[in-house]
Amino acid sequence: MDLIFATNNKHKLFEIKASVSEKINIISLSEINCNDEIPETHNTIEENASEKAFYIYNKYNKNCFADDTGLEIDALNGEPGVYSALYAGENCSFIDNINKVLEKMHGIKNRKARFRTVISLIIDNVEHQFEGKVEGEILTTLYGAGGFGYDPIFRPTGFNETFAQMNIETKNKISHRGLAVKKLVDFLNSNK
Ligand code: IMP
Repeated sequence: MDLIFATNNKHKLFEIKASVSEKINIISLSEINCNDEIPETHNTIEENASEKAFYIYNKYNKNCFADDTGLEIDALNGEPGVYSALYAGENCSFIDNINKVLEKMHGIKNRKARFRTVISLIIDNVEHQFEGKVEGEILTTLYGAGGFGYDPIFRPTGFNETFAQMNIETKNKISHRGLAVKKLVDFLNSNK
């Protein structure tokens, strides 16, 4: 089955292609020559995932999915949450965002946080949502060079490594996005 993944994020594309079987043909936006800046105008990740997926579905009339992800830090009342991408401002880098988190968390003992992903899948104009969550903690400095985003400062509960220190297979097995993708794949398999 062909499914467009409505993202411009090459890291997400790499992760998701690595976690689905070859029965699902993930098509990137560049493969359909779509260079649009996909709108994300809401303040929940559920609504943003939906908005991104419907934007592509309505434009191309092809089955597709989108994900939206937030890092929710308890001591910061759930920040950066839905604002994870541009937490440090317009055009900020992953490192700018990490530095902002580390500054805000300076001296704070409660380091509990989670990544939460919602995937919105549109099949024949009907939407299905799948959530994946992973609990962990925010470290006080960066570890590892893999992954992307906040991976170097997030260590999932029960592991000695940050997401940025893990290989892609390990991250996909336990991560927010990996778990949401597993639900999506199970759904597709049970509806064949
Ligand atoms: P998006 O709105 O779903 O594209 O994600 C928002 C931001 O969350 C991204 O720009 C990254 O900074 C961060 N993010 C999303 N997924 C991950 C991940 O798997 N690891 C680390 N950071 C992530």
